[in-house]
Amino acid sequence: MRASDKNRIIVEAFELTKVYGNGAATQVCALDGVNLEIHAGEFVAVMGPSGSGKSTLLNMIGALDRPTSGKVIVNGQDISALRDLDSFRGRTIGFVFQLHNLITTLTARENVEVPMQGIGMSGRARRERAEELLELVGMQGRFHHLPGQLSAGQRQKVAIARALTNRPSIVLADEPTGNLDSASGDEVLSVFGRLNSEYGATILLVTHDPNVARCTQRILRMQDGKIVHEDIVGDPFTEDLKVLARSQLGQALLRDEMLDMLSPEEREVVRNMLGRVA
Ligand SMILES: Nc1ncnc2c1ncn2[C@@H]1O[C@H](COP(=O)(O)OP(=O)(O)OP(=O)(O)O)[C@@H](O)[C@H]1O
Ligand SMILES: [Mg+2]
Repeated sequence: MRASDKNRIIVEAFELTKVYGNGAATQVCALDGVNLEIHAGEFVAVMGPSGSGKSTLLNMIGALDRPTSGKVIVNGQDISALRDLDSFRGRTIGFVFQLHNLITTLTARENVEVPMQGIGMSGRARRERAEELLELVGMQGRFHHLPGQLSAGQRQKVAIARALTNRPSIVLADEPTGNLDSASGDEVLSVFGRLNSEYGATILLVTHDPNVARCTQRILRMQDGKIVHEDIVGDPFTEDLKVLARSQLGQALLRDEMLDMLSPEEREVVRNMLGRVA
């Protein structure tokens, strides 16, 4: 990524709203006036309770569906104005889902080659590109394995390589570590981290796991179809402090009757330390 790309806005959402269903009784407002900007090279997490609209947000950005109202602009293109969502998605978006969706009868390399078919690349160029991408995600030596011969974490890495074939403007990952044990989850997460830090990939990742979210740069918290809180991820010490400050203990420490037990200087320190990050 060029330095000048840093300020490029990849995703812009204005009052983005998605309502599912027609009848008043069955209508669900899955997204309710979301405003959002994601810049090139950012690594952003989306958290929030089940049903809060995380996947819907990804689906709107990923051109899997159109908004009911409001706008989402991806790579300068207004999604609602697009005739052909499929071809835009193929050119612009890299999707990684919780379940890898690999084709079980194809090898790792063949799976990565699938999105490159029909775009005028020679077989040899496809193979070379697939191998290069598999190496990038740490899957060298596994080119000819079938999905069934790979571990769950390795399959997810193949899915990441496949998502990168079209050099997407943004990688969207919906709970990519949700199905993995913690060691494989860490490995997959480190692949995303490397894609972002070494290759400047722009990544938006949904997760329920706070430890995954804190490996990103910014956390969006959703509730009832809205982004209710946005958090810049700090250094590990600050992040630990945030956990303490938001706990019942942290909140209790900030109450006046507790602070009254301290000297004025100590009170200042506790207020500063916990109050700032709470
Ligand atoms: N295709 C659909 N038709 C009708 N309602 C839907 C559809 N997709 C999602 N919803 C509803 O929209 C709301 C938001 O769903 P969404 O899948 O975005 O939540 P989520 O935050 O991803 O949840 P989870 O953490 O469980 O994956 C939910 O109330 C859900 O029932
Ligand atoms: Mg979801």
